[in-house]
Amino acid sequence: MTGCRFAGLIAILTSVFASVADELTPELSVKEIMNSIVTPATNIIWGAYQLETESQWQEVGRAATAVIGAANLLMLGGTGEGETEIAGEAEWQRSNQLMLAAARQVLVAVDKRDENALSQVGNDALYPPCESCHQAYQK
Ligand code: HEC
Repeated sequence: MTGCRFAGLIAILTSVFASVADELTPELSVKEIMNSIVTPATNIIWGAYQLETESQWQEVGRAATAVIGAANLLMLGGTGEGETEIAGEAEWQRSNQLMLAAARQVLVAVDKRDENALSQVGNDALYPPCESCHQAYQK
């Protein structure tokens, strides 16, 4: 009897988890993610120069966090045509992971309040994955 109920519970939980997984579909196109999240955030990071106040540093930190969020979304691809399929490709995930890792490096530079490190990471780590992904996927 107890075993029976347990099996029923497992069946319910399994269907709950399955529907949660089904909801993990993109809500935005890649273009929307680029224009609404990646571009505004990287403008702040690349434009950071002679930072003086605490709130300026915090703004850069939030921008790097936004890039991490965008990379997290891009793991699923986007709603545009063929964008779920490209997310399954190694080159897509590779460029995206590099962008994510670069944004984490930005956060480290921000934590240290190190503007030289910030500009170095911006140029050497954050920019190349934009280029490589666009070369492979931007029409
Ligand atoms: C994982 C792949 C990937 C990465 C990484 C990536 N992009 Fe993109 N980006 C795309 C694709 C694909 C398009 C083309 C979208 C379209 O036209 O539908 C695009 C388009 C764009 C556009 C043009 C949007 C438009 O309105 O046509 C800008 C600007 C842009 N990306 C900025 C960036 C910047 C800045 C970075 C790096 C910080 C970056 N992207 C990193 C895939 C990527």
